[in-house]
Amino acid sequence: MMNGLDRIRLISLRDKVMSAQQAIELIKDGSVVGLSGFGGAGEAKTVPLALADHAAAHPLRITLATGASLGNSIDGRLSQAHAIQRRYPYQADPTLRKAINNGEVMYIDQHLSEMADNIRHHNLPSINVAVIAATAITEDGQIIPTGSCGNSANFIEMADQVIIEIDNTINPVLEGVHDIYLPKARPNRGPIPLTQAGDRIGTIGINVSPEKIAAIVLNDLPDTQFGMDEPDTDTLSIAKHLIHFFEAEVAQGRLPENLGPLQSGVGSIANAVFAGFEHSNFNNLEMYSEVLQDCTFQLIDSGKMTFASGCSMTLSESCAQKVMQNFDQYKDKIVLRPQEISNNPEIIRRLGIIAINTALEFDIYGNVNSTHVTGTKMMNGIGGSGDFTRHAHIAIFVTKSIAKAGAISSVVPMVSHTDHTEHDVDVLVTEQGLADLRGLAPRERARKVIECCAHPDYREALLSYFERACEHGGQTPHLLNEALSWHAQFEETGSMKTA
Ligand code: COA
Repeated sequence: MMNGLDRIRLISLRDKVMSAQQAIELIKDGSVVGLSGFGGAGEAKTVPLALADHAAAHPLRITLATGASLGNSIDGRLSQAHAIQRRYPYQADPTLRKAINNGEVMYIDQHLSEMADNIRHHNLPSINVAVIAATAITEDGQIIPTGSCGNSANFIEMADQVIIEIDNTINPVLEGVHDIYLPKARPNRGPIPLTQAGDRIGTIGINVSPEKIAAIVLNDLPDTQFGMDEPDTDTLSIAKHLIHFFEAEVAQGRLPENLGPLQSGVGSIANAVFAGFEHSNFNNLEMYSEVLQDCTFQLIDSGKMTFASGCSMTLSESCAQKVMQNFDQYKDKIVLRPQEISNNPEIIRRLGIIAINTALEFDIYGNVNSTHVTGTKMMNGIGGSGDFTRHAHIAIFVTKSIAKAGAISSVVPMVSHTDHTEHDVDVLVTEQGLADLRGLAPRERARKVIECCAHPDYREALLSYFERACEHGGQTPHLLNEALSWHAQFEETGSMKTA
């Protein structure tokens, strides 16, 4: 038997197995393609890479919708072949980033919880072909996702045709970890029946009528394994400030002893901050987040975390090996959900989540830029940070106070692009300290942010800006000719520092 054929347990579907080269004939110039994958996990690989090779010789441009970022350089290979015309909702690939910033690719940077609902209600074009990675197809035809749920169930529900990529590299023990539940289209939508981070409300696989499956391709390429930076002194300091803050919140009775469900953003800073919980006095921690990183499993191993709900698992090689080899230990402690549920504002508000995300920069009033370097160049995208921040019980942003060896201050007079407004942001943390902005008016916020978060090299200049702006007046005082001068100077001279 071909490697992987036995994973197609609905025998009648085995006739649909074909090569990737045959399957990509379903994808035409101008097609809208919905591809599985979230946080570099769970993407279909053989089909999109065959499409990239094909497009390099036979020009073709598609709209590419995914869960979030993709591994295996799929975005990079497709954009190198000039095959991506439009892309949403999130990416993190250096080659695609260049194509976005030079205007070749139209990138629609969307809240991750929202994109599928926009397709469902025809605010975005419908999906022509869904290409979805699967661990297996069950006897009754359910599609078992792989390392992420992303928008896979939505794409299958909404697509005209479906290509399933059976991923032979995924350990079959994953079957049972997913919880597939999709909201109905409005106006027939009821509340999502999830009241605890650990609730299961759906099925272990995605239901699809077998006729909709146009092709099945077998894949032997593994998911990308990610390296994770070791915490450094700055990220350890950020973690320390946060842990002290949480201890004080519990002592004052404002947070429960286990803090309530936690969400952590992507990236090395967020991972280091979460690792900080390992040496804290907190126990029975729970996560209701989107990406489960190495730190999640470290906290489960050390007995600090009892449950983690996510949308994908993005793990280093050694962590992935440990988790898969000992999956029985984790199976009842984790669940993977579609991003419409993992990032759903209704649930985030209901559960009272503490959201911790990373900023590129924030301003003295607490507005946050997570996406645009010097206000124009896309880094990755807003991802789930807006889903969580707007609806969190406490919305926290972390960043180092300086970047590029001190040439950039991450605390600026005015952010050069706003992803999260001062109305949503509660707490800011750098290695310098923590600013609790709850209940403070803009003028009070500014003093706190400058005093607690700014790097000493930039503190005086920020204070001078703020005091001169106050002379000018206003609820949120600014000097319009100067507010973005720090960024302009960086572009001109390579540094925000004045001589
Ligand atoms: N201006 C310009 N560049 C800056 C900067 C600033 N104010 N602050 C940081 N950077 C640069 C760093 O120097 C680094 O550059 P390099 O890759 O050339 O070394 C890069 O941005 C990444 O910064 P780093 O400190 O390594 O942070 P990170 O890996 O934790 O990523 C974000 C930070 C903001 C890019 C990342 O968290 C992100 O994309 N967030 C948006 C999406 C999101 O929040 N998703 C989670 C929701 S659940």
